[in-house]
Amino acid sequence: MNAIIITAAGGPDVLQIQSRPDPSIGEYQVLIQVKAAGINRPDVLQRKGYYPAPPGAPADIPGLEVSGVIVALGSAVKRWEIGDEVCALVPGGGYAELVAADADVCLPIPTGLSFAEAAALPETIYTVYDNVFRRGGLKQGEHLLVHGGSGGIGSTAIQLAKASGAVVSTTAGSADKCAYCKRLGADIVIDYKKDDFVAVLKDQKVNVILDSIGGDYFEKNIDILAPDGRLVYINAVQGKQVAVDLMRVMQKRIVITGSTLRARDVTFKAQLTREIGAFVWPLIGDLFKPQVYKEFELADAAKAHACMEDGNFFGKLVLTI
Ligand SMILES: NC(=O)c1ccc[n+]([C@@H]2O[C@H](COP(=O)([O-])OP(=O)(O)OC[C@H]3O[C@@H](n4cnc5c(N)ncnc54)[C@H](OP(=O)(O)O)[C@@H]3O)[C@@H](O)[C@H]2O)c1
Repeated sequence: MNAIIITAAGGPDVLQIQSRPDPSIGEYQVLIQVKAAGINRPDVLQRKGYYPAPPGAPADIPGLEVSGVIVALGSAVKRWEIGDEVCALVPGGGYAELVAADADVCLPIPTGLSFAEAAALPETIYTVYDNVFRRGGLKQGEHLLVHGGSGGIGSTAIQLAKASGAVVSTTAGSADKCAYCKRLGADIVIDYKKDDFVAVLKDQKVNVILDSIGGDYFEKNIDILAPDGRLVYINAVQGKQVAVDLMRVMQKRIVITGSTLRARDVTFKAQLTREIGAFVWPLIGDLFKPQVYKEFELADAAKAHACMEDGNFFGKLVLTI
């Protein structure tokens, strides 16, 4: 098969298309002929050498989510048949013509969606569902602040939180990105390059914050969280070492938590898959629309990564085969 290989740690040009042996599958896995693969910021971090693949995942083929057609079944797989069209969360190897996926971590392609749209779903939906709703416990009528609302995670969090009846605030880095977040349904949008989100939100009762920024956002997040607020980390691009005023955490009874999805085991991902199939899949179409900004050919993965690093996009970038 053809696959995109990270030939060395570095810039987008280290991504090169090469021929590789077809993946083998375990008894609880399926082999997917990939039609599209979503691109995520963690792929960029992996390419740069900061986010190695977990044990068992292809070490040098990026790609955390795919859509496609099942072409082979492990001996214990009962749920799927050859020819089924699915999307899947994979621990790596998605930028390829074929990928092995755990059968219990696949979902049917929602009615009416293209392969490209379906490939844009798993990584951000699993991450947002787990961190905003399970860890963060966001409830109907509560207020979510998500930083970086115009990206893949942000556009997913805005839509899922609105669909669940929450109030949503978000930060974004330009007038165009702010307008995009408004179109997705965000109630309050803050251009963080012009305005301080603490000043804008000081009179709001923010219950949950989804943060991938870290650094000096930590203290600001503590400032605006309401009593019993939940602060959930999924990255810390501006700094992972922060000073904590424990008295303020106690006084507000704030819960600080976070997680990384990729390294979690199959049992956990299968449980998330069941919950997402039950609670999120029915929203897709009306209340949740996949946000594919641009499609690239597999061989153009380097261009897709350069586009992500330029930052001039909304929602998701996708490779198609
Ligand atoms: N823990 C996990 O399991 C997990 C899983 C998936 C992703 N992640 C992390 O989640 C983050 C988002 O991933 P993604 O795939 O959605 O990436 P993405 O599409 O590139 O989105 C990142 C967003 O952050 C915004 N941003 C950057 N600096 C900001 C700042 N100082 N304040 C507010 N917004 C800022 C960017 O837009 P602007 O132009 O507006 O700045 C962009 O919209 C990444 O850090 C990724 O590593 C974690």
